Amino acid sequence: MSKILVTGGTGYIGSHTVVELQQAGYGVVVVDNLSNSNIEVLSGIEKITGIRPAFENIDCTDYVNMDRMFEKYPGIDGVIHFAASKAVGESVEKPLHYYRNNLLSLMNLLQLMPIHKISNLVFSSSCTVYGQPDKLPVTEDAPIKPALSPYGKTKQIGEDIIRDTVFANDFYKAVILRYFNPIGAHPSAHIGELPSGVPNNLLPFVTQTAMGIRKQLQVFGNDYNTPDGSCIRDYIHVVDLARAHVVAVARMLNKENKEPVETFNLGTGRGLSVLEVVHTFEKVNGVKVPYRIADRREGDIEQVWADPSYANEVLGWKAQETVEETLRSAWRWELNLARKREEKK
Ligand code: UFG
Repeated sequence: MSKILVTGGTGYIGSHTVVELQQAGYGVVVVDNLSNSNIEVLSGIEKITGIRPAFENIDCTDYVNMDRMFEKYPGIDGVIHFAASKAVGESVEKPLHYYRNNLLSLMNLLQLMPIHKISNLVFSSSCTVYGQPDKLPVTEDAPIKPALSPYGKTKQIGEDIIRDTVFANDFYKAVILRYFNPIGAHPSAHIGELPSGVPNNLLPFVTQTAMGIRKQLQVFGNDYNTPDGSCIRDYIHVVDLARAHVVAVARMLNKENKEPVETFNLGTGRGLSVLEVVHTFEKVNGVKVPYRIADRREGDIEQVWADPSYANEVLGWKAQETVEETLRSAWRWELNLARKREEKK
């Protein structure tokens, strides 16, 4: 059984990926410092797969403890590196935290991997590296635009660190995955997104507003150059996204990769506006989402969606879920959270 280290494995995308890896027969070791997640996520994973993954509460910026972790779990075949800070606004306020956390953790892994004879890395990148693309849908060879936030810069620099390291040493292989907007939750509703405090992202704000936790959603701008005036994104079901990681890992383990570093867009190829998301959510779930049109949010890209055909052809992976089912899964998860809050009372 191949063994995979998942950093950030109790986080939103990480936890869904752990489930898909286990269901594909991989052994999984999770490393997470629980800075933006909860230990109970491991129970959610166990409910779905019947397997509680090995877990170590370690900060990936801690070289010494990461080294010990690799000693404790010999024979790891690949690393999927999710662990990172990801709030765009916070990164503007705390740039040093973002550079330290996101870059040091990656550099530690790259240094430790050859020491422990691990050559395969999957890296979480983002469509944020494209900025506002000149051409839509955006392909992997679109130019990298100056990032609008320290968070975005850490993804660009992280990609560069990987490319330079692999170029200098042919021991390594890497797959860089550029995510579009992951939403939704596992169909079982045992795991999902757990934003702490007021959500920054659209979907948790939508589900919390439908639940009555938030009074009103603000739609940031309706005067963009789009059909209904609101911004357009490529929303992808988190389980579809998670499955792409399993394919990427298998590709490296089976030595199918054509280049030492490969880069793929992970999106659906379908752009949806904020208003379309809100209205579809209301329709498929039979709930109201009170909203008002607010000013534009600073730093927002007007519209971006993926050309996923390279990933479709080369990885043989394709996003499967409909937007309707994706939005239903997001609501089921919010309902499950409400149930858990009631039980705790
Ligand atoms: N939006 C609202 N109201 C809200 C929240 C969001 O109208 O309360 C709108 C935004 O203006 C945007 C769209 O919903 O048009 C999506 O916003 P998100 O914050 O959910 O997602 P972003 O596209 O801004 O950012 C996401 C990730 C980032 C990542 C970026 C690009 O949160 O980490 O995609 O990859 F960098």
